[in-house]
Amino acid sequence: MSKEDNYPLTRGSISWTRINLLQYVWRDTLGYLIHPEISRQVRDIADIATGTGLWLCEIGNDNSYRNLHGYDISADSFIDANNLPPGVQLRAVDASKPAPEELKGQYDVVHIRLLQSVVHNDDPTWIIDHSIELLRPGGYLQWEEFDPLQVDLHENGQAPNLAKLVEKLETRVPGSWVSNLPATLQRYNMNIIAVDRKREVPWHHKTVTHLCCMVFEEYASMFLDKAGPPGSGDEMRALVSAAYEEAQRGAYASHLFQTVVAQKTK
Ligand SMILES: C[S@@+](CC[C@H](N)C(=O)[O-])C[C@H]1O[C@@H](n2cnc3c(N)ncnc32)[C@H](O)[C@@H]1O
Repeated sequence: MSKEDNYPLTRGSISWTRINLLQYVWRDTLGYLIHPEISRQVRDIADIATGTGLWLCEIGNDNSYRNLHGYDISADSFIDANNLPPGVQLRAVDASKPAPEELKGQYDVVHIRLLQSVVHNDDPTWIIDHSIELLRPGGYLQWEEFDPLQVDLHENGQAPNLAKLVEKLETRVPGSWVSNLPATLQRYNMNIIAVDRKREVPWHHKTVTHLCCMVFEEYASMFLDKAGPPGSGDEMRALVSAAYEEAQRGAYASHLFQTVVAQKTK
Protein backbone atom coordinates (compact mmCIF):
# COMPACT_ATOMS: atom_id res chain seq x y z
CA MET A 1 0.00 0.00 0.00
CA SER A 2 1.16 3.56 -0.66
CA LYS A 3 2.22 5.59 2.34
CA GLU A 4 0.45 8.77 1.37
CA ASP A 5 -3.13 7.73 2.10
CA ASN A 6 -5.15 6.21 4.93
CA TYR A 7 -7.45 3.94 2.88
CA PRO A 8 -8.90 1.51 5.45
CA LEU A 9 -9.06 -1.58 3.18
CA THR A 10 -6.22 -3.68 1.80
CA ARG A 11 -4.79 -3.45 -1.72
CA GLY A 12 -3.69 -7.09 -1.91
CA SER A 13 -4.81 -9.86 -4.22
CA ILE A 14 -8.03 -10.59 -2.32
CA SER A 15 -9.27 -7.00 -2.39
CA TRP A 16 -8.16 -6.71 -6.06
CA THR A 17 -10.34 -9.71 -6.85
CA ARG A 18 -13.18 -8.35 -4.68
CA ILE A 19 -13.45 -5.00 -6.45
CA ASN A 20 -13.09 -6.60 -9.89
CA LEU A 21 -15.86 -9.09 -9.10
CA LEU A 22 -18.04 -6.17 -8.01
CA GLN A 23 -17.68 -4.71 -11.52
CA TYR A 24 -19.68 -7.64 -12.90
CA VAL A 25 -22.24 -7.56 -10.08
CA TRP A 26 -22.85 -3.86 -10.82
CA ARG A 27 -22.99 -4.38 -14.58
CA ASP A 28 -25.41 -7.32 -14.36
CA THR A 29 -27.61 -5.43 -11.92
CA LEU A 30 -27.69 -2.04 -13.65
CA GLY A 31 -27.71 -3.34 -17.21
CA TYR A 32 -25.48 -0.47 -18.35
CA LEU A 33 -22.01 0.94 -17.86
CA ILE A 34 -22.92 4.50 -18.84
CA HIS A 35 -26.45 5.52 -17.90
CA PRO A 36 -28.79 5.60 -20.95
CA GLU A 37 -29.81 9.19 -20.12
CA ILE A 38 -26.25 10.38 -20.79
CA SER A 39 -25.80 11.77 -24.30
CA ARG A 40 -24.32 9.41 -26.89
CA GLN A 41 -22.01 12.29 -27.92
CA VAL A 42 -19.68 11.95 -24.91
CA ARG A 43 -16.03 11.32 -25.79
CA ASP A 44 -13.84 12.07 -22.78
CA ILE A 45 -14.45 10.19 -19.54
CA ALA A 46 -12.71 10.26 -16.15
CA ASP A 47 -13.13 7.66 -13.41
CA ILE A 48 -12.23 9.04 -9.98
CA ALA A 49 -10.90 6.59 -7.34
CA THR A 50 -10.79 4.05 -10.16
CA GLY A 51 -9.26 1.17 -8.15
CA THR A 52 -7.97 -1.32 -10.72
CA GLY A 53 -9.37 0.61 -13.71
CA LEU A 54 -11.60 -2.27 -14.83
CA TRP A 55 -14.72 -0.11 -15.38
CA LEU A 56 -12.74 1.99 -17.89
CA CYS A 57 -11.43 -1.14 -19.62
CA GLU A 58 -15.00 -2.32 -20.17
CA ILE A 59 -15.91 1.09 -21.59
CA GLY A 60 -12.76 0.88 -23.73
CA ASN A 61 -14.21 -2.12 -25.57
CA ASP A 62 -16.47 0.41 -27.28
CA ASN A 63 -14.37 2.43 -29.71
CA SER A 64 -16.62 5.47 -29.64
CA TYR A 65 -14.71 7.14 -26.79
CA ARG A 66 -11.50 9.17 -27.05
CA ASN A 67 -9.94 9.60 -23.62
CA LEU A 68 -10.70 7.17 -20.80
CA HIS A 69 -8.69 8.39 -17.83
CA GLY A 70 -8.64 6.71 -14.43
CA TYR A 71 -7.37 8.47 -11.30
CA ASP A 72 -6.70 7.04 -7.88
CA ILE A 73 -4.72 8.17 -4.87
CA SER A 74 -2.68 4.97 -5.22
CA ALA A 75 -1.37 3.27 -8.36
CA ASP A 76 -0.87 0.00 -6.45
CA SER A 77 -4.05 -1.64 -7.79
CA PHE A 78 -3.85 -0.44 -11.40
CA ILE A 79 -4.09 -2.94 -14.26
CA ASP A 80 -0.66 -2.96 -15.98
CA ALA A 81 -0.34 -0.08 -18.44
CA ASN A 82 0.66 -2.35 -21.35
CA ASN A 83 -2.54 -4.39 -20.94
CA LEU A 84 -5.00 -1.48 -21.14
CA PRO A 85 -7.34 -1.04 -24.14
CA PRO A 86 -6.77 1.95 -26.46
CA GLY A 87 -7.64 5.27 -24.85
CA VAL A 88 -7.38 4.03 -21.26
CA GLN A 89 -4.72 5.69 -19.11
CA LEU A 90 -4.36 5.43 -15.34
CA ARG A 91 -2.59 7.93 -13.10
CA ALA A 92 -2.21 8.65 -9.38
CA VAL A 93 -4.25 11.72 -8.39
CA ASP A 94 -5.60 12.52 -4.92
CA ALA A 95 -9.27 13.55 -5.17
CA SER A 96 -9.10 15.29 -1.79
CA LYS A 97 -6.93 17.97 -3.38
CA PRO A 98 -7.90 20.48 -6.07
CA ALA A 99 -7.79 18.94 -9.57
CA PRO A 100 -4.48 19.43 -11.44
CA GLU A 101 -4.78 22.50 -13.73
CA GLU A 102 -4.33 20.50 -16.95
CA LEU A 103 -7.35 18.28 -16.09
CA LYS A 104 -9.83 21.03 -15.26
CA GLY A 105 -12.86 21.15 -17.57
CA GLN A 106 -11.54 18.28 -19.75
CA TYR A 107 -14.29 15.66 -19.36
CA ASP A 108 -17.82 14.98 -20.64
CA VAL A 109 -18.43 12.37 -17.94
CA VAL A 110 -16.96 11.86 -14.49
CA HIS A 111 -17.73 8.42 -13.06
CA ILE A 112 -17.47 7.53 -9.37
CA ARG A 113 -18.26 4.23 -7.69
CA LEU A 114 -17.97 2.64 -4.28
CA LEU A 115 -16.47 5.29 -2.05
CA GLN A 116 -18.23 4.12 1.11
CA SER A 117 -14.89 3.43 2.80
CA VAL A 118 -13.45 6.76 1.69
CA VAL A 119 -16.24 9.19 2.64
CA HIS A 120 -15.85 10.20 6.30
CA ASN A 121 -18.31 11.97 8.60
CA ASP A 122 -21.13 11.39 6.09
CA ASP A 123 -19.62 14.18 3.97
CA PRO A 124 -18.90 13.52 0.27
CA THR A 125 -18.54 17.20 -0.68
CA TRP A 126 -14.75 17.09 -1.23
CA ILE A 127 -15.27 14.49 -3.96
CA ILE A 128 -18.03 16.58 -5.54
CA ASP A 129 -15.76 19.65 -5.56
CA HIS A 130 -13.03 17.68 -7.32
CA SER A 131 -15.45 16.10 -9.85
CA ILE A 132 -17.07 19.37 -10.85
CA GLU A 133 -13.64 20.84 -11.54
CA LEU A 134 -12.93 18.04 -14.03
CA LEU A 135 -16.25 18.41 -15.89
CA ARG A 136 -16.92 20.58 -18.92
CA PRO A 137 -20.04 22.79 -18.73
CA GLY A 138 -22.95 20.46 -19.57
CA GLY A 139 -20.89 17.40 -18.56
CA TYR A 140 -22.34 14.54 -16.51
CA LEU A 141 -21.47 13.10 -13.13
CA GLN A 142 -22.47 9.41 -12.75
CA TRP A 143 -22.10 8.22 -9.16
CA GLU A 144 -22.84 4.63 -8.09
CA GLU A 145 -23.00 3.47 -4.47
CA PHE A 146 -24.54 0.83 -2.23
CA ASP A 147 -26.90 2.34 0.29
CA PRO A 148 -25.57 0.88 3.57
CA LEU A 149 -28.81 1.79 5.35
CA GLN A 150 -30.92 -0.35 3.00
CA VAL A 151 -29.43 -3.82 3.36
CA ASP A 152 -32.27 -6.38 3.53
CA LEU A 153 -31.63 -9.61 5.37
CA HIS A 154 -33.40 -12.72 4.02
CA GLU A 155 -33.00 -15.44 6.62
CA ASN A 156 -36.23 -16.57 8.40
CA GLY A 157 -34.57 -16.04 11.78
CA GLN A 158 -31.91 -18.63 10.90
CA ALA A 159 -28.92 -16.34 10.44
CA PRO A 160 -28.13 -14.47 13.67
CA ASN A 161 -24.47 -13.95 12.72
CA LEU A 162 -25.21 -12.48 9.31
CA ALA A 163 -27.82 -10.32 11.06
CA LYS A 164 -25.08 -8.96 13.36
CA LEU A 165 -22.90 -8.03 10.38
CA VAL A 166 -25.79 -6.22 8.68
CA GLU A 167 -26.53 -4.37 11.90
CA LYS A 168 -22.88 -3.27 12.10
CA LEU A 169 -23.12 -1.97 8.52
CA GLU A 170 -26.22 0.04 9.31
CA THR A 171 -25.06 1.44 12.63
CA ARG A 172 -21.32 1.90 12.13
CA VAL A 173 -21.02 3.11 8.55
CA PRO A 174 -22.27 6.70 8.30
CA GLY A 175 -24.38 6.24 5.21
CA SER A 176 -27.14 8.82 4.98
CA TRP A 177 -24.98 10.77 2.49
CA VAL A 178 -25.86 8.13 -0.13
CA SER A 179 -29.63 8.70 -0.23
CA ASN A 180 -29.01 12.44 0.27
CA LEU A 181 -26.68 12.63 -2.74
CA PRO A 182 -29.26 14.03 -5.22
CA ALA A 183 -30.15 16.85 -2.81
CA THR A 184 -26.47 17.53 -2.11
CA LEU A 185 -25.70 17.76 -5.84
CA GLN A 186 -28.62 20.14 -6.36
CA ARG A 187 -27.01 22.49 -3.85
CA TYR A 188 -24.05 22.58 -6.25
CA ASN A 189 -26.39 23.74 -9.02
CA MET A 190 -26.22 20.34 -10.72
CA ASN A 191 -29.36 19.19 -12.57
CA ILE A 192 -30.46 15.74 -11.50
CA ILE A 193 -31.02 13.67 -14.65
CA ALA A 194 -31.69 10.25 -13.08
CA VAL A 195 -31.75 8.43 -9.76
CA ASP A 196 -31.94 4.61 -10.05
CA ARG A 197 -32.26 2.43 -6.96
CA LYS A 198 -32.43 -1.31 -7.52
CA ARG A 199 -31.41 -4.56 -5.83
CA GLU A 200 -28.92 -7.08 -7.19
CA VAL A 201 -30.15 -9.64 -9.69
CA PRO A 202 -31.06 -12.89 -7.86
CA TRP A 203 -28.03 -14.85 -9.08
CA HIS A 204 -25.82 -12.33 -7.23
CA HIS A 205 -27.62 -12.57 -3.83
CA LYS A 206 -24.93 -14.92 -2.58
CA THR A 207 -22.11 -13.00 -4.25
CA VAL A 208 -22.99 -9.72 -2.51
CA THR A 209 -23.40 -11.55 0.79
CA HIS A 210 -19.91 -13.06 0.49
CA LEU A 211 -18.45 -9.73 -0.61
CA CYS A 212 -19.99 -8.07 2.46
CA CYS A 213 -18.37 -10.74 4.67
CA MET A 214 -15.01 -10.19 2.95
CA VAL A 215 -15.08 -6.49 3.80
CA PHE A 216 -15.49 -7.34 7.48
CA GLU A 217 -12.56 -9.78 7.24
CA GLU A 218 -10.45 -6.97 5.79
CA TYR A 219 -11.65 -4.66 8.55
CA ALA A 220 -10.52 -7.26 11.12
CA SER A 221 -6.99 -7.48 9.72
CA MET A 222 -6.57 -3.81 8.77
CA PHE A 223 -8.11 -2.21 11.84
CA LEU A 224 -9.19 -4.50 14.69
CA ASP A 225 -5.93 -6.53 14.84
CA LYS A 226 -3.89 -3.32 14.95
CA ALA A 227 -6.00 -0.80 16.85
CA GLY A 228 -9.08 -2.60 18.21
CA PRO A 229 -9.58 -4.13 21.67
CA PRO A 230 -7.44 -7.27 22.22
CA GLY A 231 -9.01 -10.30 20.50
CA SER A 232 -11.55 -8.23 18.55
CA GLY A 233 -10.03 -9.21 15.18
CA ASP A 234 -10.44 -12.91 16.02
CA GLU A 235 -13.99 -12.31 17.26
CA MET A 236 -14.84 -10.63 13.95
CA ARG A 237 -13.32 -13.51 11.94
CA ALA A 238 -15.39 -16.02 13.96
CA LEU A 239 -18.54 -13.98 13.29
CA VAL A 240 -17.78 -13.81 9.57
CA SER A 241 -17.04 -17.54 9.42
CA ALA A 242 -20.42 -18.32 11.06
CA ALA A 243 -22.14 -15.88 8.66
CA TYR A 244 -20.55 -17.70 5.69
CA GLU A 245 -22.09 -20.95 6.94
CA GLU A 246 -25.50 -19.28 7.23
CA ALA A 247 -25.12 -18.04 3.65
CA GLN A 248 -24.37 -21.63 2.60
CA ARG A 249 -27.78 -22.56 4.05
CA GLY A 250 -29.51 -19.90 1.92
CA ALA A 251 -29.46 -16.69 3.98
CA TYR A 252 -28.46 -13.55 2.08
CA ALA A 253 -28.05 -9.82 2.59
CA SER A 254 -29.57 -8.02 -0.37
CA HIS A 255 -28.02 -4.65 -1.25
CA LEU A 256 -29.53 -1.53 -2.78
CA PHE A 257 -27.55 -0.23 -5.76
CA GLN A 258 -27.99 3.49 -6.33
CA THR A 259 -26.96 5.43 -9.44
CA VAL A 260 -27.25 9.21 -9.51
CA VAL A 261 -26.71 11.08 -12.79
CA ALA A 262 -26.35 14.86 -12.54
CA GLN A 263 -25.45 17.44 -15.19
CA LYS A 264 -23.22 20.46 -14.68
CA THR A 265 -24.94 23.67 -15.77
CA LYS A 266 -23.93 24.89 -19.26
C1 LIG B 1 -13.61 0.44 -2.90
S1 LIG B 1 -12.42 1.07 -4.01
C2 LIG B 1 -13.44 1.44 -5.42
C3 LIG B 1 -12.68 1.33 -6.71
C4 LIG B 1 -13.49 1.55 -7.99
N1 LIG B 1 -14.15 2.84 -8.00
C5 LIG B 1 -14.48 0.44 -8.25
O1 LIG B 1 -15.70 0.67 -8.21
O2 LIG B 1 -14.02 -0.69 -8.48
C6 LIG B 1 -12.06 2.73 -3.40
C7 LIG B 1 -10.87 3.39 -4.09
O3 LIG B 1 -10.76 4.75 -3.63
C8 LIG B 1 -9.39 5.09 -3.68
N2 LIG B 1 -9.17 6.32 -2.90
C9 LIG B 1 -9.17 6.46 -1.55
N3 LIG B 1 -8.95 7.76 -1.22
C10 LIG B 1 -8.79 8.44 -2.37
C11 LIG B 1 -8.50 9.80 -2.69
N4 LIG B 1 -8.34 10.73 -1.73
N5 LIG B 1 -8.37 10.16 -4.00
C12 LIG B 1 -8.51 9.23 -4.98
N6 LIG B 1 -8.78 7.92 -4.73
C13 LIG B 1 -8.91 7.53 -3.46
C14 LIG B 1 -8.73 3.84 -3.11
O4 LIG B 1 -7.34 3.81 -3.39
C15 LIG B 1 -9.52 2.74 -3.80
O5 LIG B 1 -8.92 2.35 -5.01
